[in-house]
Amino acid sequence: MPNMTSNSTAGQDARPVMIEARNIIKSFGNNRVLDDVSLTLGQGEVVAVIGPSGSGKSTFLRCLNHLETIDEGSIRIEGETMAAAVAGERSQYASDADVRRICRKMGMVFQSFNLFPHMTVLQNIIEAPITVKGMARADIVPKAEELLRKVGLLNKRDNYPTRLSGGQKQRVAIARALAMEPDIMLFDEPTSALDPELTGEVLRTMKQLADERMTMLVVTHEMGFAREVAHRVIFMDDGRIVEEAPSAEFFAAARHARSREFLAHML
Ligand SMILES: Nc1ncnc2c1ncn2[C@@H]1O[C@H](COP(=O)(O)OP(=O)(O)OP(=O)(O)O)[C@@H](O)[C@H]1O
Ligand SMILES: [Mg+2]
Repeated sequence: MPNMTSNSTAGQDARPVMIEARNIIKSFGNNRVLDDVSLTLGQGEVVAVIGPSGSGKSTFLRCLNHLETIDEGSIRIEGETMAAAVAGERSQYASDADVRRICRKMGMVFQSFNLFPHMTVLQNIIEAPITVKGMARADIVPKAEELLRKVGLLNKRDNYPTRLSGGQKQRVAIARALAMEPDIMLFDEPTSALDPELTGEVLRTMKQLADERMTMLVVTHEMGFAREVAHRVIFMDDGRIVEEAPSAEFFAAARHARSREFLAHML
């Protein structure tokens, strides 16, 4: 990946906590897929989540964004409790209205773009701000255009998604998430469905966001992005966080045998 160097943001201490997940346990039937997972994410931090297939990376992100519910543990977003731990019982969630409101602080981008096929690029971006946030069309359209300019796709404003390449679709998906003005962006393998020559343009858009100090949690197989843009790396295996370290440290000398084995396969 070309010219991605910039993970210069240091000290994680004094910044506001954006995500605080504590001791999360999540099972599907008898299959425990998250086993005591904890994470703290500070404002402006970029954290890469890596690990083998089936290790629970997507499930973890989906729990943070309430696309799945947790069994045990707690989730706080910007200091607000979405799910509270209750000793010996299931976690207790905030009211539906509060959960919805808290989740709006987070935008999510998936591997499979999920654009509305019957809407133009512009319509895709303004839909949620109008219907969910009640924004006026006159206010959101210029903003959507500004976001399209930012991801380099203003000229595709009136195209339908079928006319776009995968990389372009993903950049529209990023613009669409940003149109809701989230404080945190969650990415689940945003480049995995793309041909190699299209991943660069999406990673550059993500790096630009990182440079603007967006708080980002990124599940990725792109080790170049994890090493050069992420401040921290979390390595998951079998539903657990096996290792968590500043990226430079992790890539120079992973402490755990399983992390090293994974890296040997990826690099
Ligand atoms: N809705 C579901 N119902 C039942 N099992 C599920 C469900 N979603 C995920 N799982 C299981 O949970 C485990 C973790 O899956 P998850 O998708 O979180 O892994 P992942 O680390 O994201 O993998 P990948 O790298 O392949 O995307 C797997 O064993 C998977 O089969
Ligand atoms: Mg996944």
